[in-house]
Amino acid sequence: MIEKKISTSFFIADFSELNPIEQDLINKAKEILKTSYSSYSGFSVGASVMFEDQTSIEGSNQENVAFPSGLCAERVALFYARSKFPDKRIDTIAISAQSKDFEINDYISPCGACRQVMAEYEEQQKSKIRILLHSPNDSVLISNSVEDLLPFVFKSPFLKRF
Ligand code: THU
Repeated sequence: MIEKKISTSFFIADFSELNPIEQDLINKAKEILKTSYSSYSGFSVGASVMFEDQTSIEGSNQENVAFPSGLCAERVALFYARSKFPDKRIDTIAISAQSKDFEINDYISPCGACRQVMAEYEEQQKSKIRILLHSPNDSVLISNSVEDLLPFVFKSPFLKRF
């Protein structure tokens, strides 16, 4: 048996260090989280997806009394983005969260299912998606690719037919 290790890399920046386009994208995520339909969890999340042409689409988490029927903000935004503009490459996604009931003092990191969806589009469009995780203290965790957040991702080559 041999032990193998993987390492990952990410960046931490202050909001003020980001370029105006990235700042704007984070502000859009902060703004859209106000539309969150999340009375069950009391946890509002906003995601803004920017295409390579710098246009963007936003989404917020949408919950349901049948809990598993709800959807995270990231997938709401990504699916909306891809259904409206199937040919545009996604450049960056920014995520922000807020709650009246919970203390959020750290980055809200996308769940595994949302990472898997980002990974699918990264692979399909053959270019990385930058991820900006905004924390309420205005610190931002930056990942240059979902690959760095999801080692051992399930990829389409696994479904190659004989
Ligand atoms: N949620 C998101 O929208 N994105 C995340 O990255 C984490 C969790 C939502 C799902 C649910 O509506 C609420 O936050 C609590 O889990």
